[in-house]
Amino acid sequence: AKKAVLGPLVGAVDQGTSSTRFLVFNSKTAELLSHHQVEIKQEFPREGWVEQDPKEILHSVYECVEKTCEKLGQLNIDISNIKAIGVSNQRETTVVWDKLTGEPLYNAVVWLDLRTQSTVESLSKKIPGNNNFVKSKTGLPISTYFSAVKLRWILDNVRKVQKAVEENRALFGTIDSWLIWSLTGGVNGGVHCTDVTNASRTMLFNIHSLEWDKELCEFFGIPMEILPNVRSSSEIYGLMKAGALEGVPISGCLGDQSAALVGQMCFQDGQAKNTYGTGCFLLCNTGRKCVFSEHGLLTTVAYKLGRDKPVFYALEGSVAIAGAVTRWLKDNLGIIKTSEEIEKLAKEVGTSYGCYFVPAFSGLYAPYWDPSARGIICGLTQFTNKCHIAFAALEAVCFQTREILDAMNRDCGIPLSHLQVDGGMTCNKILMQLQADILYIPVVKPSMPETTALGAAMAAGAAEGVGVWSLEPEDLSAVTMERFEPQINAEESEIRYSTWKKAVMKSMGWVT
Ligand code: G3P
Repeated sequence: AKKAVLGPLVGAVDQGTSSTRFLVFNSKTAELLSHHQVEIKQEFPREGWVEQDPKEILHSVYECVEKTCEKLGQLNIDISNIKAIGVSNQRETTVVWDKLTGEPLYNAVVWLDLRTQSTVESLSKKIPGNNNFVKSKTGLPISTYFSAVKLRWILDNVRKVQKAVEENRALFGTIDSWLIWSLTGGVNGGVHCTDVTNASRTMLFNIHSLEWDKELCEFFGIPMEILPNVRSSSEIYGLMKAGALEGVPISGCLGDQSAALVGQMCFQDGQAKNTYGTGCFLLCNTGRKCVFSEHGLLTTVAYKLGRDKPVFYALEGSVAIAGAVTRWLKDNLGIIKTSEEIEKLAKEVGTSYGCYFVPAFSGLYAPYWDPSARGIICGLTQFTNKCHIAFAALEAVCFQTREILDAMNRDCGIPLSHLQVDGGMTCNKILMQLQADILYIPVVKPSMPETTALGAAMAAGAAEGVGVWSLEPEDLSAVTMERFEPQINAEESEIRYSTWKKAVMKSMGWVT
């Protein structure tokens, strides 16, 4: 059969905490043409530890690329139309590998991992000068969340890594670096780089000068020679060295939350989006200026779409557990068999019947930053059943979003009039309605929830030397919007929210 002729296509790898995806878009309309997804294992070797296998992650990318290309073939779409590939990834997750063998020297330490709690406590006591030393340079509080402390732990505890550093064989990277290095050739000339958005999550990167910070590296004891080169989010880093897309440039790279901001076209000061993945992350574009939060939000690099383009910053509210609570109900409690089933259970009851679920599995992130918090389910009676717990789990995602939205409104001064959302969980209509009810503003979701991948594809397609995506709104003509309006009264919404806050207080300071 004759292959259909389309405009230039762009692919995107979306390597998230729970799964890897490869998606192919039409650069003229942003229409999603085909994709493939593979779930990624998480290992919990000890209480509070979360690891992943970097090789499994890499293989999942190859598998998704191959399968998507096969599917395109079945649709009679010629894969030679794919002109560029973007990478978006779970941020902060830390990998160290051997540049001579290409082998990871330890499992990836995932952003959710809590093993560095004591390192964080002792480092916090050693901050030189004023308490602002780390925050003023990086925009981040010292927390188990960011890469520097994970890397410190690896350097202190893994003999193979210590030896490789001594022998100048070790490379460090977040998932983007590990993937780009491997995909562009690995031991045969792989490019060791990262982009400004991912670098800004390491706690080693100066978000003003856009360089690795010598003082921070000294403070955390990190050898600078193992760090990747920092590039913009949209430029050609290298070419795919193997597989169906061999020779295609990799020309976009963004941490997944930045990618979603781009995919939602939040290019103006004050525009915000909230992405429901494993965690939940609300980012508000603050333009060319770094805004420092007074209410527990992070300051982070939003994007820099080209070598000579300006850098944009964002305020971020980070929630560690969103979709992860569904996975927990599935894998740990077994009350649902598939993630989608949570909606069915919640719908059966339509209320949590006074049950509140604070999923502080990895402590609490914004706005509390309490690593000692742990999850609780409270307000139980003999009447409570699994449906109420499922409902409470969904409500928890919405309440956590309300907390970061409130913080964002206080920091920005101008309250958001509606919330733009995306991510896998937004297919859940009960969740979306609950979110509108709890925020008491409309929630607006694009028909195509894969905004993260779209943002990475846009950055890749817009790169100098590729130039197939112009980043103008008309390039998103295939994306339509769905709106959820608040349906309960404001008073009821407030009562539920204040009871949630009571539950949060009970979860805090649990580990002493
Ligand atoms: O900071 C962690 C974040 O990037 C993870 O994203 O989509 O896996 O929840 P996600």
